[in-house]
Amino acid sequence: MELNEVYYVDGIRTAFGRAGEKGIFWQTRADDMVARVIRTLMERNPGLDPAAVDDNIWGATTQMGDQGLTMGRTTVMLGGLPNTVAGCSVDRMCAGGMTAIDFGAASIAMGSADVILAGGVEHMGHHPMGQGADPNPRFIAEKMVDLSALNMGMTAENLHDMFPEITKEQTDEYALICQQKAKKAWDEGKIQKMIVPMSVWSADGWKVADKDEQPRPQTTMEGLKGLKTPFRAQGRVTAGNSSGLNDGAAGVILASAKACEKYGLVPKMRMINYAFAGVKAEIMGIGPIPSTKKAFERTGLTMEDVDMVELNEAFAVQAVAFMNEFGLKRPDDPRMNAWGGAIAFGHPLASSGARLTMTLANRFAENPSARYGLATMCVGLGQGGTAVWENLQK
Ligand SMILES: CC(C)(COP(=O)(O)OP(=O)(O)OC[C@H]1O[C@@H](n2cnc3c(N)ncnc32)[C@H](O)[C@@H]1OP(=O)(O)O)[C@@H](O)C(=O)NCCC(=O)NCCS
Repeated sequence: MELNEVYYVDGIRTAFGRAGEKGIFWQTRADDMVARVIRTLMERNPGLDPAAVDDNIWGATTQMGDQGLTMGRTTVMLGGLPNTVAGCSVDRMCAGGMTAIDFGAASIAMGSADVILAGGVEHMGHHPMGQGADPNPRFIAEKMVDLSALNMGMTAENLHDMFPEITKEQTDEYALICQQKAKKAWDEGKIQKMIVPMSVWSADGWKVADKDEQPRPQTTMEGLKGLKTPFRAQGRVTAGNSSGLNDGAAGVILASAKACEKYGLVPKMRMINYAFAGVKAEIMGIGPIPSTKKAFERTGLTMEDVDMVELNEAFAVQAVAFMNEFGLKRPDDPRMNAWGGAIAFGHPLASSGARLTMTLANRFAENPSARYGLATMCVGLGQGGTAVWENLQK
């Protein structure tokens, strides 16, 4: 069977708020955030007939409450799509949005769909990590995993143990540079292009959520050095060199060549391939290394061919481990997260894969000579995901 090409057409996200009562989205529902993204994508692409959307695929880690009831279907209605549009929900924890995109791409590739809306959402204020989960006691009793495997910050400490050459000073330096790159990108208006403002109700009345709440542009090495290590006494992982607890939604439009032509959609990127790989749960942050190697094997590419990397910085230590493995220049490589990453913007779990994808597309737009890019991320309980895209914006 001959496969169809899969194109990325557009992507948008909400601002990423801080989770909790003081966060901008505290009184906003997760499914309304998704609906805002869907409506914006449709408004920005008026040639696209909403009835032509074949599937509305959404990732969320906690699929209950305002993230429950098969959100891909509920947001067909909330997002103003005709009720003939199908919808489903997927979960691969942090890579929920990435999985939604990859599965959507696969269905276009095999001719089962021409237009897909895909993305992810996580309202970590309403749904703290692990909410409602009931891990099988046999995981621990039968020593399938160490207790630390269930706490993401502890897995980052484990990664430091595995790579003693990665020092706290290096991860703090990585975090500092991330904050600086994010500030520069914001000041240059690059991030705003990916954010749709949303009116939200708060204790002080109506407000507009149009800025990420997590970035700390005033970060200094001195400030980072003094932070507590909440996951281990005398540890190395801090609030400063970790992603945070956030609320946000992000989504994209994928289309076949036929649909692009029919609806006048301009393809920005072509998907080359994607891969997921499993790793030991205790060192889940290493996941992007085997998934990227797998993607390289499938595509015949190497890091030499890659002009841009968007890696989800769950923790600085896993970003540094990735850079070391693939020979990216430290402390900063122009290919890697050039506009900052999750340490600055935040990581509303399932939404992050879609944020990485749209950031890659926007970076490509400014760099027409760049050809190949990666979006890659680690996943709780030990996985990595990597998608390889080609720039079509000349
Ligand atoms: C690390 C973590 C526990 C911190 O949570 P928190 O304590 O609520 O974080 P805060 O933002 O309040 O920061 C804690 C302190 O560090 C300070 N801080 C954070 N970043 C800083 C920076 N860049 N520079 C200076 N200080 C900073 C804060 O000001 C705060 O100080 P205070 O205690 O004096 O108010 C939380 O963000 C976390 O769990 N992150 C990982 C999320 C995760 O596992 N995701 C899944 C990945 S797979």
